Amino acid sequence: MTEAEAKKKIQKLSEELHSHNTRYYVLDDPEISDQKYDALMRELESLEKEFPHLKSPTSPTQRVGGAPLDKFKKYTHHLPMLSLNNAFSEEELEDFDTRIKRFLKTTDEIEYIAEYKMDGLAVELVYERGKLWVGATRGDGVLGEDVTQNIKTVRSIPLAVPLELLGKFPKRLEVRGEIFMNAKDFKKLNEERQKSEEPLFANPRNAAAGSIRQLDSKITASRRLDFFCYGMGEADGKIFKSHWEMLHALKKYGFKINFTSQKCQGIKAVQKFYQEALEHREELAYEIDGVVVKVNDIQLQKRLGEIAKSPRWAIAYKFPALQETTFIKDIIVQVGRTGALTPVAVLEPVHVGGVEVSRATLHNQDEIDRKDVRIGDTVFIQRAGDVIPEVVKVVTSKRTGKEKKFKMPTHCPVCGSQAVQDPDEAIARCVGLACPAKLKESLIHFVSRHAMDIEGLGRQWIETMVDQKFIHHFSDIYKLTKEKVLALERQGEKSAQNLIEAIGASKKKSLEKFIFALGIRHVGENTAKLLAEHFQTLEKLMKATKEELEQIHEVGSVMAESIYDFFQDSKNVEEIKRLLAQGLSFTKTIKKSGVFSGKTFVLTGTLPTYSRDEAKKIIEGQGGKVSSSVSSKTDYVLVGTDPGSKLTHAKELGIQVISEDEFKKMVK
Ligand code: IVH
Repeated sequence: MTEAEAKKKIQKLSEELHSHNTRYYVLDDPEISDQKYDALMRELESLEKEFPHLKSPTSPTQRVGGAPLDKFKKYTHHLPMLSLNNAFSEEELEDFDTRIKRFLKTTDEIEYIAEYKMDGLAVELVYERGKLWVGATRGDGVLGEDVTQNIKTVRSIPLAVPLELLGKFPKRLEVRGEIFMNAKDFKKLNEERQKSEEPLFANPRNAAAGSIRQLDSKITASRRLDFFCYGMGEADGKIFKSHWEMLHALKKYGFKINFTSQKCQGIKAVQKFYQEALEHREELAYEIDGVVVKVNDIQLQKRLGEIAKSPRWAIAYKFPALQETTFIKDIIVQVGRTGALTPVAVLEPVHVGGVEVSRATLHNQDEIDRKDVRIGDTVFIQRAGDVIPEVVKVVTSKRTGKEKKFKMPTHCPVCGSQAVQDPDEAIARCVGLACPAKLKESLIHFVSRHAMDIEGLGRQWIETMVDQKFIHHFSDIYKLTKEKVLALERQGEKSAQNLIEAIGASKKKSLEKFIFALGIRHVGENTAKLLAEHFQTLEKLMKATKEELEQIHEVGSVMAESIYDFFQDSKNVEEIKRLLAQGLSFTKTIKKSGVFSGKTFVLTGTLPTYSRDEAKKIIEGQGGKVSSSVSSKTDYVLVGTDPGSKLTHAKELGIQVISEDEFKKMVK
């Protein structure tokens, strides 16, 4: 790149970043994802590195946060609130460790503290003689906003230190941490805002920031914010040996620290913490966007110092984003196996959390209206776990006026039958008995992995077979022959043979899988299992009355009615008979009982003699369950050497912790 080109590019990137900064920090309403923002920032940083004399003192790379709003009094932090450099991969995390070792001229492993990176907003709380004096946002790191009134509404922030602790409490103490909103409260808030037609918040972080930066503290008070502290500013001469010691001092003073934080010997242990955090991120009550890694020893922190407003001794190891912005090319209507008509946004493909997403559900017309989603809109989309990606909100600032509103059709787009909406439901359903879309989706469900599990029989096969009228019922699948398959598609002998064999192999299945495969409304995998355990045979289930069904603990009246109606329908009964005539047979599902019946275990650390799988088998063999994370529902935590944060969590919740020896005794 020539210097002139670089100059132009730097200017363009700076302007873009300045404008995104304002939207993010000042208006709490960003229009691009954090990931895209980070990418722009990195591009600018690398250009400025290559052409250092083009770097302006007002470049976006030179600031830590956003300029404060005029609406609040300014507050000057006694010590600047630094920001963190980011790592996005294992290599970048290792580079961080290497840099530290090189700087300290050591080959010894470094002791780190790994903490969740809370996705909220950073604040500083100033206590004078044990009383909360000022609460301020970070602002640009030097100058923040005085939001004391609003901060005081956060219940987990102490307004004053208990008298008995006052003696030990520094005369002036600056506590730093993150204000955030729990996922549940965020969801509720957005639902309320939808109802009152107020703009939605894209995520809990914007909601928390928007709530703290309110002129009316009554509004802040109604928002249920929470707080974890993770550091100190000035501490009136108090000196701590380590970050860990400081965290525990804060805890003693009555502040909330995040108990999941962990001491890690060396960067490999940090890596493990990160993987576990990534695995459990969606089970948490709040959002985290990565892990913050800090050198524990404060002496070492001092030696390491800082560069460009970020400490050399800490880094934010970020998770892949679960939100992205993209463009809606079209809105189409999909017909599900129950005939439900669902509007789906066709997107400009985008990577979200490492997966390419090209469609997102819009749920129903009410949702489209409430969020005011139009064809041509730029939107935030979100993907969580296995859940179907959904449109979160429209970036209205990107509207050009050419966007088109969308209205759900009154008829099924596949078979043309009427679409009827039950007054109690938000969705319309196709009433067409012979709707090919319904048939295709039911068949796809029937053969899917958790149902009859016919390997190789995917969506494409089913669509062709239905379109060519080869299959009208589930049972037709079992009538397929190699010759028919070969005639249908340009297929090799071998794959046709494999398909026929897979179909044959699926004839023997557990009763629960078969019940699930039938696609009875409201009957998911769990209910199917309960029904199989309770009735033991298909005949008994088919004859069950509504009352009998309702006697099963987890089966409610709506579900009971749906199951009952399904087996009353003569068409369904005939189809089941046809399937049985094809030689389908079912194994019984036996309810496991044993010493751990109904108990939930969590495993952590390495056990002296059992592997994880062995322990799991024993627990399940005795009727228990193994869960991956500790919650109030956990009965026992089985702990080995090098336990993770689960042990701390269990102790906090008062859950019984047992060793392998104790476990063995219980089994005996
Ligand atoms: S430490 C010098 N620890 O991430 C260290 N920050 O860009 C400064 N954050 O502004 C921060 N969780 O808002 C630290 N456990 C944690 C954190 C955390 C979230 C935020 C904080 C900070 C930003 C870093």
